[in-house]
Amino acid sequence: MVTANSIDDLLKATSTLKGSVGFVPTMGALHEGHLSLIRRARDENDSVVVSIFVNPTQFLEGEDLEAYPRKEEADAKICELAGVDVLFMPTIDTMYGKDELKITAPAIRGFILEGTKRAGHFDGMLQIVMKLLNLIAYNKPSNFNAYFGKKDAQQLVLITQMVKNYFINVNIVPCDVVRDSDGLALSSRNIYLSKEERVRALSLSRSLKRATELVMQKEFSSSTIIEEMKKVLSEVEVEYVALVNREFEQIDRVELGNTIILVAARVGTTRLIDNLWI
Ligand code: PAJ
Repeated sequence: MVTANSIDDLLKATSTLKGSVGFVPTMGALHEGHLSLIRRARDENDSVVVSIFVNPTQFLEGEDLEAYPRKEEADAKICELAGVDVLFMPTIDTMYGKDELKITAPAIRGFILEGTKRAGHFDGMLQIVMKLLNLIAYNKPSNFNAYFGKKDAQQLVLITQMVKNYFINVNIVPCDVVRDSDGLALSSRNIYLSKEERVRALSLSRSLKRATELVMQKEFSSSTIIEEMKKVLSEVEVEYVALVNREFEQIDRVELGNTIILVAARVGTTRLIDNLWI
């Protein structure tokens, strides 16, 4: 595995890659969720590139940029063992200059839900993903696939739209949410949870399980499903529970095959999100 910290080193390393390239962008503190993306990229491509960069422009004032877990050595080891060819770990100065051109997420998908709660977050996220995709595309891989988790559903939908709107030559591959055996969706932020909070955090996945039961009983009304989910979420501070279609438009009734049920809640000071695609 080659580890690159500068753009020159990255381009030198990617220029030697053969065949299709699978790319997995991350902010590090790698867990099984990230690893599932890396494994899939390994299975489906000739070469695999992973990036680790805690991107400052997607953190808002007062968020956990400073506290965000950084585990560079352990992450590098994990990547090496997973058969990654190139690991890109740039500094902030490598990725950003002064007075940069910005990307703005569109109203419908950018300003609702996560966009309301974290105004500007998606603009910064799209900015770094655009940069990273362009860097990996630079040496023109024969086939370029980038892997993103459905865990961050709104992020995935926005990236898919950006790639389409800006004609970026990459296939976006959506990957299933990976959970702990008790149902908690894996997240780098789970380490902030105390033992007691972790137990309460399970109500997010339980509320989605409740939604599944209701849909299986042919209860398709969004308001009923939301009401029932909120009962399960009584011990956490709910930010939103919502039903949207794949375009992220809010829907009154479940459309099978085109619905995402989303939940965001605070458990203590930790903000968690989870969702279900049905
Ligand atoms: P990060 O939170 O590190 O996540 C990197 C990738 O792993 C994302 O595509 C995310 O959806 C996926 N992922 C995280 N937890 C997952 C889980 N439990 N199951 C499946 N996939 C999971 O998302 C980001 O970083 C950043 O916004 C980034 C795209 C790297 C841009 O800075």
